[in-house]
Amino acid sequence: MSDKLNIAIDGPASSGKSTVAKIIAKDLNYIYTDTGAMYRSVTYLALKYQVDFADEKALVELIQRYPITFKQSKEGQLVFVDGEDVTTAIRLPEVTQNVSQVAALKAVRQKLVQQQQVIAKAKGVVMDGRDIGTVVLPDAEVKIFLVASVDERAQRRYKENQEKGIACDYEELKEAIAKRDYYDSHRENSPLKQAKDAILIDTTGMSIPEVVLAIETIAKEKLNQG
Ligand code: DC
Repeated sequence: MSDKLNIAIDGPASSGKSTVAKIIAKDLNYIYTDTGAMYRSVTYLALKYQVDFADEKALVELIQRYPITFKQSKEGQLVFVDGEDVTTAIRLPEVTQNVSQVAALKAVRQKLVQQQQVIAKAKGVVMDGRDIGTVVLPDAEVKIFLVASVDERAQRRYKENQEKGIACDYEELKEAIAKRDYYDSHRENSPLKQAKDAILIDTTGMSIPEVVLAIETIAKEKLNQG
């Protein structure tokens, strides 16, 4: 086995996936891939070019025409598409409200999954999303399924938005998270679900360092098993 492995982290919205995935990638010197940012970027492009969220063919054309790239910077990972830094724009409510619809489309998923598999080919990737352990990287050596109560997740997202200067209402946020979870878990194509061999971690009441330590311990055990 190579000295690097792939770590798949799935879970519902705001379960802490990206926060812990980023820290783990840094600690292990791995590449972090935020697949949610890819679905968000396609949604952003659809808004920009006024493409209907149900027009699968036109959305696939957008993906082909405008490759999504990630760049490391001092401020963290940046997302670029169509020559623009969209890191902040893809978190705006307009994108968040519509991304589930775009992410439910089979052809869109196929295109983005292909790109995600290429990124993970050389191993040493921490990838977070909804279908990483089930569809994108079914052979990932470490699979984690992170969950947390809706209340705790809404509080986290609220704080995150405040820090980024994005105005939002707590109750609305909670409702939107619950709605998105329902939609993401009940869609026909690659719904959010725990892979059979994924380890479930309920992060309600856990600190970020505690979650990071739990996952890194699992990864180290896997590496030692060789
Ligand atoms: O993790 P996030 O909130 O940035 O994800 C945005 C949306 O993209 C979310 O509604 C579910 C969808 N998504 C998906 O369907 N599959 C993934 N691998 C990642 C995200």
